[in-house]
Amino acid sequence: MNYIGPEAILKKKQEYLIPCLYHFYKNPMQIVRGEMQYFYDHNGKKYLDLYGGVSVMNAGHCNPEIVEKICAQTNTLQHTTTIYLTQPIADLAEKLSEITPGNLKRSFFCASGSEANEGAALLAQLFTKKNKFVSVEQGLHGRTKLTMNLTGIPMWRTDPYPSANITHIPAAYCYRCAYNLTYPDCDLKCARHLEDVIKNGDFAALIIEPIQGNGGIITPPPGYFQLIREILNTYNTLLITDEVQTGFGRTGKTFAIEHWDVVPDIMSMAKALANGTPMGAFITNDTIAAAYTMPGASTTGGNPVSATAALATIDVIEKYRLAENARELGDYFKNKLLELRQKHHIMGDVRGKGLMLGVELVNEGKTPASEKIDSILEQLKDQGILAGKTGISRNVLTFQPPLVITRNDIDYLYGVLERILSKT
Ligand SMILES: Cc1ncc(COP(=O)(O)O)c(C=O)c1O
Repeated sequence: MNYIGPEAILKKKQEYLIPCLYHFYKNPMQIVRGEMQYFYDHNGKKYLDLYGGVSVMNAGHCNPEIVEKICAQTNTLQHTTTIYLTQPIADLAEKLSEITPGNLKRSFFCASGSEANEGAALLAQLFTKKNKFVSVEQGLHGRTKLTMNLTGIPMWRTDPYPSANITHIPAAYCYRCAYNLTYPDCDLKCARHLEDVIKNGDFAALIIEPIQGNGGIITPPPGYFQLIREILNTYNTLLITDEVQTGFGRTGKTFAIEHWDVVPDIMSMAKALANGTPMGAFITNDTIAAAYTMPGASTTGGNPVSATAALATIDVIEKYRLAENARELGDYFKNKLLELRQKHHIMGDVRGKGLMLGVELVNEGKTPASEKIDSILEQLKDQGILAGKTGISRNVLTFQPPLVITRNDIDYLYGVLERILSKT
């Protein structure tokens, strides 16, 4: 195949795409092929992908077992809409009820994470008959009007006319505690703040990521979600967990909220759900679902190809025990990063669970080393490794690879990162 190359793509991008679409790297490559944890560019150069298309490709790029089923379904029946009966959407809903925690049972399918959160929020309003929401600083929930307002990261809140019905509470960001306190002496003050906000009783729900992805892999301490659940129960406010980044084995459990042993009222998911085929969903229990009876349909939501892709993805995650792999390799990966941190003071904090890991880069005095991260990412890329960048100060080096990576891949990253940091 004749590739037009990065320069020609950039030219078309500058001319024909809305300028809100940014890309990584001063010298970007044209990616032309994916194979499990690897990408190849237009020159045939191989890259180890440690970002997984932002936590999407949990089962690996072009996983042959998934692609085969997608192709078979595409060749048989691609689309009908939900006004006709097809089997994959029903099988998938049944499967999700089996793998999600507690009494979560009834699903609605759509095409993206933003839509899933928008739908989850609507359902919370229908059930509670209240219209206000609480969300968390540094959280990200999407690009629709409501989900952008629920988002707590300034750079992703483009809306010039923000909604007044949303209150943000401080994140469980122990490395930079909003109250300058230390866990566990803090007595989880950030969670307790929720009570001050909702105690007048007019909030429909709290929406929260179990681990904040875009916010910089912010990982709440033990006890946090149990306390949040208790406070919400007291004030009849629902818990919506946004598992768009954390779901499907990423953190070492099928869903990240399971680390805290808490069952949400509504859970949203997307990204890894169908391993790259556009797909979103929210799931709830029988009681809450009963509040949504007026017609609701998403034209392509849960269509035969997307639902087949999701079923095939879940099959692969279960068959190859990818959540267990994420836990074991995640521990190994995190220990390697902690080892590097002993030698490199720029690595201020290492956090996350499973294969959702972040390294907060700092200068002396703990100021965010935002000015250094782009050069580190570029050098990693030049040496064949792709990693991510998150955090409100854009200073968190982020790893969310396909869950099929190996110890060798991690060792390779370790060596390359060690050399780069030694020169930084
Ligand atoms: C936690 C979280 N929720 C929701 C979204 C929005 O998902 P989408 O881009 O599929 O609309 C994202 C996207 O990055 C996300 O990280």
